[in-house]
Amino acid sequence: MVVTGASTGIGRATAQRLATDGFHVVAGVRTEAAAAEVKAGRIEPVLLDITDESQVTALADRVRADRRPLRAVVNNAGIAVNAPIEALPPAEWRRQFEVSVFGQVAVIQALMPALLRSKGRIVNIGSTGGKVAMPGFGAYSGAKFAMEAVSDSLRREVEPFGVTVAVIIPGAVRTKLTERGNATAERLIAGMTPEQRTRYAGLTKAFRTTTESWGTNGLDASVVADAVSKAIRERRPRTRYTVGRDAAVMTRLTHLVSDRLLDRMVRRTMGL
Ligand SMILES: NC(=O)c1ccc[n+]([C@@H]2O[C@H](COP(=O)([O-])OP(=O)(O)OC[C@H]3O[C@@H](n4cnc5c(N)ncnc54)[C@H](OP(=O)(O)O)[C@@H]3O)[C@@H](O)[C@H]2O)c1
Repeated sequence: MVVTGASTGIGRATAQRLATDGFHVVAGVRTEAAAAEVKAGRIEPVLLDITDESQVTALADRVRADRRPLRAVVNNAGIAVNAPIEALPPAEWRRQFEVSVFGQVAVIQALMPALLRSKGRIVNIGSTGGKVAMPGFGAYSGAKFAMEAVSDSLRREVEPFGVTVAVIIPGAVRTKLTERGNATAERLIAGMTPEQRTRYAGLTKAFRTTTESWGTNGLDASVVADAVSKAIRERRPRTRYTVGRDAAVMTRLTHLVSDRLLDRMVRRTMGL
């Protein structure tokens, strides 16, 4: 089992859950300190920045050297880089996509030979943001929508060879993502022009209130870990698993209401 981004939040909870399920978990972390923290009986930390080609290659080598079949890879590592679209510098757009799209794809490519051998499973951690794009979340949602498409294509490519692909779609979860994302957002807001700051003052306020409420009311990461465990252990895994009522409702809404109605509902939800 491989879990990326296992130092905190959903990744950490997932590594622990899968270890409890009895699997040996290779847990990707980015620092020696995090490695020491996550190391446990069945949890083996490896240094893995998914945007670092040599570390992704080293992960594939580690997996190849193991006699046990690779049962699954959980693509969880992620960041949130958010600001109004016109005010988000291109380098920040790239940073969001480097981690949340290209890094995920690099890990999938590197582990595909092992997954094909074992007829293993790919579990991608998506987001409600990959189904509904709220204002102020363009880059994050862009990356998560992209991974929805990548997951669909991939599933249709590799299922004939026995490799399954599932997307986990959590709603709000209490993790460091909110606090880290908010720190990034504050830095980006500080870099906006005075005109942009005025133009987006209402959105900035709504963004802060919304993310704060996620931080307070979000689910525990262990609930997402349970869904990952299910996607890995169920005999016939579903293509998507929503986690939380917010995720279930938002995902369904996209099929039921028009864009204009959804615009109004999203704005009302954010208090805009
Ligand atoms: N929290 C939510 O409400 C929520 C909702 C839906 C979906 N999600 C998704 O869940 C996933 C996990 O997020 P989380 O909420 O658990 O947040 P988190 O606690 O901030 O965890 C993010 C993890 O990703 C790692 N990471 C960041 N950049 C990386 C890179 N370049 N290479 C490898 N690892 C990297 C972090 O490592 P470091 O500690 O080294 O930075 C950390 O382990 C993300 O994909 C996120 O989009 C979260």
